[in-house]
Parts: sequence; C-alpha cells; structure tokens
Amino acid sequence: MTHVALVGGGVIGGGWAGRLVENGFDVRLYDPHPEAERRLREALENAERAWAQLTMAPRIRGVASVAPSLGEAVRDAEVIQESIPEDETLKRRLLAEIERHARPDALVCSSTSGLLPTRLQADMESPERFVVGHPFNPVYLLPLVEVVAGEQTSDKTVERALSFYSSLGMKPLHVRKEIDGFVADRLLEALWREALWLVHDDVATVEEIDDAIRYGAGLRWAQMGTFLTYRIAGGEEGMQHFLAQFGPALAWPWSKLTDVPELTSELIDKIAEQSDEQAGGLSVRELERIRDDNLVALLQALRTRDYAAGAIVKAHETRLFDAAGSGTEERDPARPLKYESVVDPSWVDYNGHMTEARYLHVFADASDAFLREVGIDAAYLGRGHSAYTVETHLRHLREVAGLEPLHVLTQVLGADEKRLHLFHTMTNARSGETLATAEQMLLHVDTAAGRASPWVEPVATAVTRAAAAHVALPVPDGVGRAIALTA
Ligand SMILES: NC(=O)c1ccc[n+]([C@@H]2O[C@H](COP(=O)([O-])OP(=O)(O)OC[C@H]3O[C@@H](n4cnc5c(N)ncnc54)[C@H](O)[C@@H]3O)[C@@H](O)[C@H]2O)c1
Repeated sequence: MTHVALVGGGVIGGGWAGRLVENGFDVRLYDPHPEAERRLREALENAERAWAQLTMAPRIRGVASVAPSLGEAVRDAEVIQESIPEDETLKRRLLAEIERHARPDALVCSSTSGLLPTRLQADMESPERFVVGHPFNPVYLLPLVEVVAGEQTSDKTVERALSFYSSLGMKPLHVRKEIDGFVADRLLEALWREALWLVHDDVATVEEIDDAIRYGAGLRWAQMGTFLTYRIAGGEEGMQHFLAQFGPALAWPWSKLTDVPELTSELIDKIAEQSDEQAGGLSVRELERIRDDNLVALLQALRTRDYAAGAIVKAHETRLFDAAGSGTEERDPARPLKYESVVDPSWVDYNGHMTEARYLHVFADASDAFLREVGIDAAYLGRGHSAYTVETHLRHLREVAGLEPLHVLTQVLGADEKRLHLFHTMTNARSGETLATAEQMLLHVDTAAGRASPWVEPVATAVTRAAAAHVALPVPDGVGRAIALTA
C-alpha cells in the first residue's frame, strides 16, 4: 500500500502528511484553504526535521502534494483519512461525498477527537469500511492512535486500520466500547476542566498549572501512565493499599467534578493574557520546534530503555533497518560498502564543528550497516547472537560542519571464526574530501552467555565471503596506526 488521501490539511492533516511521507507513503491532500500548499510544506519540514533527529534508520520518503479537488485526492487512494473541523454535520456530508469518488475497497478513517463513529457513518453507502483513527498532536511524533469502530464497522476494517497505523510506527489502541471522547480525551478533558477552574478561581496562573504537571506527574505519565504509577505509590503493598489509603478522599472531593466554568469574555481574556506572557514572545512555529526537540529527546531516552513509547520507536526502527537490509538492489561485494549520513546540527559543539564522539557515532552506524548486510537482523539478534566492537582507532583528519553530507566506505581487512576487522573512511559526499577514518575490531558474541562465540549461519558464510571479496582491495592509508609522538 503506498497511496493515502488526506482530507483537511490543518494541524492534524499536516501532521498525518508528515508521518506518512517519513514512512514512504505518497500523499494527496485536499483542503480548500487558500494557503494549503504553504501549510503542507511547513508541516512536512517540521516532520522531516524531527525524524532526521529521531532515527538513523534507512527510509525512503514519500511525496506529498495538494490536489485541486476532493475527487482527485481520493480517487486512487487505498486509505482516506479525514481531518476536517470537529462538526458532525460537516463530517457526515463529507464522508458521503468521499464515497462517491473513492475506490470501493478504500479504507475510510476519521481523525475525530470524540464524535461517535456510529453517527458519523450513518449516511454512508458502505459504512462497514469506516472507522475512527484518532491521533495526537504532533501526529508525526506521538505514536498513539485510538481506533474506534461504529455499529456498522466490519471487523476486517478494524484489522486493516490497526495494521495500517502500526506500519507507520504508531501504537494503535483499539477502543472496544464506543463512547463520546473515547479514552484519552476523557482523561484529558477532566484535567483541562480542573485547570480552567484553577485559573478562574485565581488559585494559579496558566504557567503555574503547567509547572505543576511538567515538573512532577507529567514525567511519570510519559512512561508509566496513571495505574502503574499509583501501584508503585502504594509501596510494597501495591494497589490495594493505595486504594485503601487514598480512596476515601475521592468522596470529599477535591476536584470540581463535571462542573464547567463558564467561558465568559473575562475568563477567556485572563487565560489568553497569561498564555501570551507564558509564551514569552515565541511564535507557534518556534514553540512547535521546542516541543518537537523535547519529544525526540524523550522518545530516544525511552528507546534506549525499550520502554513505553520508546519500545514502539525501537520496534519500528528495527523493521526499517531489516527492510533496508533485505533490499533487492544488487551490490558488487568486491567493493567497500557505502553508508550515507548527514551531520545533525545538534552534533555541533562549541568549536562550531561535529563533536568528536559523533565521529564514532557515524562509524558505529556504518558498522551496523555492514552487519545488516551480512545478515545480522532482528531474528539473528533474537536468537542470542550479536557482534560487539572491542577496539577502535579513530583519526580526525578535518573539521566537519553541521548538515555536511557524509559517505562512509567500509572495507573488510580480515575475519576469522569470531572476529571481524573493519576499516571505515569518511568523506564529504559532495567534494570527496577525506574527513576521518576508523579501524575497528568486532567480536561475535553469545549474548546470553556474555562470551565470544563463533559466527552462526547464515552470517558465518556471509562474513567469510565479504572478507574474501575485499582481500584484493588496496590497504588504506592509516591501517595499523597507533598513537605516538613520532610520525
Ligand atoms: N488539534 C488537535 O490537537 C487534534 C487532535 C486529534 C484530533 N483532532 C481532530 O482532527 C480534526 C481536525 O482538527 P485540526 O485541529 O486539524 O483542525 P484545523 O482547523 O487545524 O484544520 C481543519 C482543516 O480542515 C479544512 N477543511 C474544512 N472543510 C473542509 C472540507 N470540506 N474539505 C477539506 N478540508 C476542509 C480547513 O480548511 C482546515 O485547514 C478534528 O476532527 C479534530 O477533532 C484534533
């Protein structure tokens, strides 16, 4: 599946475009907004910037364009994602119109934040192919998407939606009971209502309320949610103790329940003024980038822990690496493997150049690319085999600037039953100038035993073949160098 239509290109439609393009889908977007092209371009720029930082996994980016009419956007699409304003009448009318142009087998999804799918699908000719796929802003970074079926939605449609969203590196949550607001927005609305009361009653400013979340519970929510966090808060006796201790307080209650403060013009002005002050003159674009950089940092931290949203990023990345490794493109095995990268601006240090540790980062990625080529994939790792780097000699030959395009050529100097001797040469991809080299020894290991072990098939044969194919290559300058004061 490669072609997706997006109907509505605002905050959410633009976010979908970013996630889809970063994952190799071609997108046709329809939005009558006069600046639809500019808004799409800016959303794609944000997504590209975020994904370039998020993962080095090899990806083919898709192409997105604005269609002149609804019909042209949806005609060939396999999936159609509607993200127009939250208005039931408008959405129902649009869904019926989408069906007049769409392929009969196209999946039709709505980004609605909480309208009931049974009502949205009521005027459709083929309501069984409709489902809600409710994402979270920014769609290109947050993995969660709530999948909610209406009464007429078929099981097959739900399955297709779950598998489509998973293929985009998302975490689809199948909401089994159709309720207003689904699961996530029910929780968010309760918090939002209390926050409005606290401002209304002059208990706290908007900034103080945000601080009450981001310095405390927000950090817990990002990785464990509410129930697991409270289980731990119950101490050794766990959840039962927690409920016994804090349960009675729920009846007092501290919060305003479903009572809503009236959004008078005074309250709206008060919130807007405090919000302007909190933003400190930063534009929405600037705030989006701060948010995205922080989200990338959080996702990466959780990825190293293989936990919560980080586990989704890690699994998706593994799939992308494996897909690239199994590419059908024939490569001449007698030539060094070429790995391509680009210097992320955040790798630049106080000297204005790529910081020294990032040289090793790039070479380590080049080694990983070679290991994938010889067959070390998720299945091989899952069987308890891997290769660890045990020694590296790095030569920094020239300063490397931010955003500089890089090529790394990887040559096999030798291999035996447990070891692999590699030499990497990093060049500027445009000028060909040599920037750095790295000589590395890698050791094959049995990861469970934590010991060196012989290569296992099919990797053993591939390593031997690669070493034999490279034996005729000239020995690169710098091989076997050690640090010394003499030249
Ligand atoms: N903003 C969020 O945080 C968020 C999160 C999850 C889901 N949603 C849901 O996503 C949907 C879109 O929300 P949004 O925040 O992107 O709104 P938005 O106002 O930013 O964007 C809506 C877009 O739809 C376009 N549009 C209006 N009528 C159209 C039509 N007939 N055909 C094509 N395009 C049309 C508008 O020009 C606009 O660009 C809503 O259902 C909303 O509930 C929003």
